[in-house]
Amino acid sequence: DGTEPFTAAVITMSDKGSKGERADESGPAMKARLKAAGFDVVEALLLPDEKGLLKRELVRLSDQRQVDLILTSGGTGFSVRDTTPEATLEVMTRNVPGIAEAIRAESMKYTKRAMLSRGVSVLRNKTLIINLPGSPKAVRESMEIVLESVQHGLGILR
Ligand code: MTE
Repeated sequence: DGTEPFTAAVITMSDKGSKGERADESGPAMKARLKAAGFDVVEALLLPDEKGLLKRELVRLSDQRQVDLILTSGGTGFSVRDTTPEATLEVMTRNVPGIAEAIRAESMKYTKRAMLSRGVSVLRNKTLIINLPGSPKAVRESMEIVLESVQHGLGILR
């Protein structure tokens, strides 16, 4: 009836993080900001940079758990292991290019290297999936740019 909180899952893509070689600050940053915006964050995952693993989780979270929003962090750059956008595009039902466009355009004010993120934003049925860059700083900056409009869009989906 529109009063239920939106549900969300966050996924950190990091080879080092998944091996315990680096603390994941981006997952907690996504979770904290979503909670502050009123989301119910039902899962937080930390995965190695493997396209197949990410695809499987994106499908499960959208088809089985039917979360409203999935945020990923990392794996959007030029490293050969960076395959987050490819995994996301392979599970998409409808493209939503404007969210990724806004993140890149507005992030140019913070760093010109924002142009290097290949992150995409898509729908898989009623689940919105947005790729954010890997650093906690980039996560916080990107979420400020899109969160309010994202909530408006999710309201139209339900
Ligand atoms: N976007 C914002 N808002 N702030 C940032 O610090 N870092 C950039 C870019 N986008 C950045 C940003 C950098 S340095 C890179 S290499 C790309 O995101 C890709 O990051 P990833 O490989 O961690 O996904």
